[in-house]
This record gives sequence, C-alpha cells and structure tokens, in this order.
Amino acid sequence: MTASYSVQPGGRLGGTVRVPGDKSVSHRSIILGSIATGATRITGFLEGEDALATMNIFRALGVRIDGPTAGEVAVNGVGLRGLRAPNTVLDCGNSGTSMRLLAGLLAAQPFDCELTGDASLRKRPMRRVAEPLAAMGARIEPAEGGRPPLRIRGNPSLRGIDYAMPVASAQVKSALLLAGLYASGTTRVTEPAPTRDHTERMLAAFGYAVRRDGATVSVSGGGTLRATEIAVPADVSSAAFFMVGASIAPESDITLEAVGVNPTRTGVIEILRRMGADLTVLEPRELGGEPVADIRVRSADLQGIEIPRELVPLAIDEFPALFIAAANARGRTVLRGAEELRVKESDRIQVMADGLAAIGAQAEPTPDGMVIDGGAYAGGVVDSHGDHRIAMAFAMAALRARAKIVVRDCANVATSFPGFVETSRRAGLPIEELA
Ligand code: S3P
Repeated sequence: MTASYSVQPGGRLGGTVRVPGDKSVSHRSIILGSIATGATRITGFLEGEDALATMNIFRALGVRIDGPTAGEVAVNGVGLRGLRAPNTVLDCGNSGTSMRLLAGLLAAQPFDCELTGDASLRKRPMRRVAEPLAAMGARIEPAEGGRPPLRIRGNPSLRGIDYAMPVASAQVKSALLLAGLYASGTTRVTEPAPTRDHTERMLAAFGYAVRRDGATVSVSGGGTLRATEIAVPADVSSAAFFMVGASIAPESDITLEAVGVNPTRTGVIEILRRMGADLTVLEPRELGGEPVADIRVRSADLQGIEIPRELVPLAIDEFPALFIAAANARGRTVLRGAEELRVKESDRIQVMADGLAAIGAQAEPTPDGMVIDGGAYAGGVVDSHGDHRIAMAFAMAALRARAKIVVRDCANVATSFPGFVETSRRAGLPIEELA
C-alpha cells in the first residue's frame, strides 16, 4: 500500500488518450441496474476499486453481476424488492459515493446491514445523509461523531419528505432519491447550488419518472425501473489531470476522447478557460443519456483568477489539479467557498497546501479555500495522504518543476484511475512507479 511515483521534471503531453470510465456514472449503473427488472448491459465501466466496491456489495446483496471484462458488465437486476440480506459487513473501501448512496437505498430494505470502509472513509461525515433519511423514517446508526461504520436497521415503510440541503451535495441528493423510490408519497430535494445530476438522468434512462422544478428534484415511490444499456463516458475528473498537464507543459497538444461533458461536471473546463487555457471541445454527442465530447488541449500561458463561487460544486473534485494550474499561472488565484474540500478522501486544502510548500510553490490555505501565487517551483517529496487525486495532481506538477517530484502513498490512484502510470507515460509524462 506504499507505492510511490517518481516523476522527472519537464516533458510535454501529446497524442490521443481515453481515460477510464466515469466513476459517478459507473456506481450508479450498478446500483440502478441491480434494482431494475431485467438484464442491464454496461460498457465503458470504470474498473477502479471504488466502482468495484459497489459491485461487490450488490453481489453480497444477492445480485448476479458478470464482469467486468474490458469495461463490459452485465447486471441481472432483481427488481426494487429483490435484494437479499447480506451475510457480511458491506465494505465500501475508500468510496464515499458507495456509502452515502447505499445508505439511502439500504435504509428502505426489509433487512438490516452494516456499511464500513477504509481508514479515510471512516473519518468522513455521514450525518448529512443519516439525518434527512431519519426524517423519512430510516434507522441509521453511525459510529462516534456521525462517522462510519453505519448500522442500518431496514424499514420498508419510509415516508417521502421535502428536504432543503444545507450543503450542495450530489451524494446526499442521490441518497434521498434512492430512498424515495421506496417511500410513500413524494420525496423532494432542493439544492442550494447545482450538483451533478447523473442519478436523475439515469433514473430517467431506466424509465423512472423524475421531476425537476428549478432547484428541486423529486421522485415518487412505487414505480419500477426497466433494464437498459448504459455506455459510460470517460471521466472528466480523470481527464482534468491531462487538461492541466497539457496546459502547463510547453509544446503540449493532447486530445482526450469521449469525455463526459455533463454541464454539472464541467466547472474545470470553465475555470481553466478563464485562466487562459486553450481547450477545444470537439464533436459533442450523446452517450447513454450523458453528453460527451473530445477535448483538445494545447499549452497556454495561464493567469491567476478569482474562482467564481458558483463554479465550486461543478468542479469540486478537480481542485487538486486546478491548484497545480494556479501554481503555474501568472499572478494570484483565489478559491473561496470550498470548505467541502476538507472532508474529501483527505483534507484537500491542507494536504495540497503542504504538498505545494514541499515543492517550493507559494500557497496559503484558508478555512474554505486557498490563495496561490504562481511562479517557478523546485521539486521534492510530497505525501498524498492516500488521496488519489492529490497523487495524480502532483505527478502532473513535475511537467514544470525544476527537479524531480516524488509522490508518496499512491496506491489509491487505483480507486478512480487504474492504469494512470501507463496512460500518462504514453502521453509523455516521465513517470515511474516505485514499489
Ligand atoms: C459524487 C459527488 C461528489 C464528489 C464525489 C462523487 C457523486 O461528492 O465529490 O467524488 O458521485 O455523487 P458530494 O456530492 O458530497 O460533493
């Protein structure tokens, strides 16, 4: 579990790259495929540890799932009422999405279960789902401090509620919508700012009625999901590392294929463009109810900006990469309103600030963001704290470093981007994995 990356300074990115499947869409394809009637075929599935954790949980709940083989999965859906009591604790690994979404689904079952996860996940806040689900009648008992493991006593007679989310969280919204499939009446969730809408889109693809009314999305219980085909787009969050790498490394020109460009996910493109990045969105098309496009990225002189607050939830997973862009931009970049970053797979504000300091870049963490003054930096040893996105961000930082960057604790890159080392090396990043 202690794999490190050693990345030589310099280099440029080029060629055509298809990054692995979207993590959010992959989780949801297993979840909805399992509770649909009939066989759902998934292509482009992310064979990363997080999505595989969700898959293994549904196997433990009695669903036959074949694959993944080269990104293909067949889910033999058991219908909304067909899940069976598991005879083990359900392990979500590093995956907050698995735990929060499944808390909603499992709270509505006629059996009890327990959800746990790795050391990072066991530090993450779960009251944000447990409390609104309790208002629906769910019985979820977190451990101390509202953290995992979650002991769930199933209650097949949940009631729909109207809930205004205090945090802009797609995971909370999705947990409530999944519980709402089983609840009496209508479950309405209002978001304080737009968040990724993959659950709503995919429910519709499975033939389940979802209403959207401004900032409020609602479902009514008692319907059915019908099996379908899901083609998973390449993950814009994984593509983001190459967008930043190609922007900062002189003479780069890379094309990222079939990237999901759902407008609730493309904050990173908007922010990079505002910084002066040269990104071209080519051949926009649709894949399984989600917009996709190829994205061409060429090097550019970036400039620091104030990141607009409304873009924060639309780029929430991309800030580790964006901080590297900011460290290579002229002038100051300021991020505010992003306190959620402190409760991701690591405290991404502190861990990124420490890593930037370790390589000699100028960054000042704030309670809800970061102030970064772009300029030259040296190199050095960075601890990713087991956070996949931090590891990949600092690997890309080497493209403009003066000396080698070593990133420690990179094994969790496999949660979202299996093959990162090979893919980025093929694109031109001088990266090596040390045992
Ligand atoms: C996700 C939602 C986001 C994101 C996470 C995946 C999802 O979390 O950070 O990586 O698939 O719904 P929040 O909804 O808690 O912001």
